Amino acid sequence: MSSIDMLGLARQMMERAYAPYSKFHVGAVVRGGNGKLYGGCNVENAAYPQGNCAETAAISAMVADGEQRIAEILVMASGSETVSPCGGCRQRLREFASDDVPVHLADPKGVKRTLPFGELLPLSFGPEHLK
Ligand code: THU
Repeated sequence: MSSIDMLGLARQMMERAYAPYSKFHVGAVVRGGNGKLYGGCNVENAAYPQGNCAETAAISAMVADGEQRIAEILVMASGSETVSPCGGCRQRLREFASDDVPVHLADPKGVKRTLPFGELLPLSFGPEHLK
């Protein structure tokens, strides 16, 4: 299953998260259309609103590498509730992901749920609306 290697990178990202305020470590991995994996972690800030989500960092790594298509997404955090991308990150992912892209929601032990991206952000607004 393709999410196995994504899990390893997401765990590493979680460990590297800088989250001294919330203590909530998040790791995110996107697989680009080129097949490469891009990871990110949340980075908080003493000026709270300036913190960044893990998904945002993973998207930035992908775009900086020259890739602009997301083929698969995995988000990982600890806790009893299954983590799911926040509203702002759903819109950021939307820029590069189509509705059929699989989103894996995971904890450090493994994937807990997989759903198509379109279910996270139905009837969404995207780049094609501006054409
Ligand atoms: N967080 C993420 O990194 N991704 C999400 O989708 C949900 C929330 C981070 C932001 C903040 O650093 C911490 O989790 C608590 O909200």
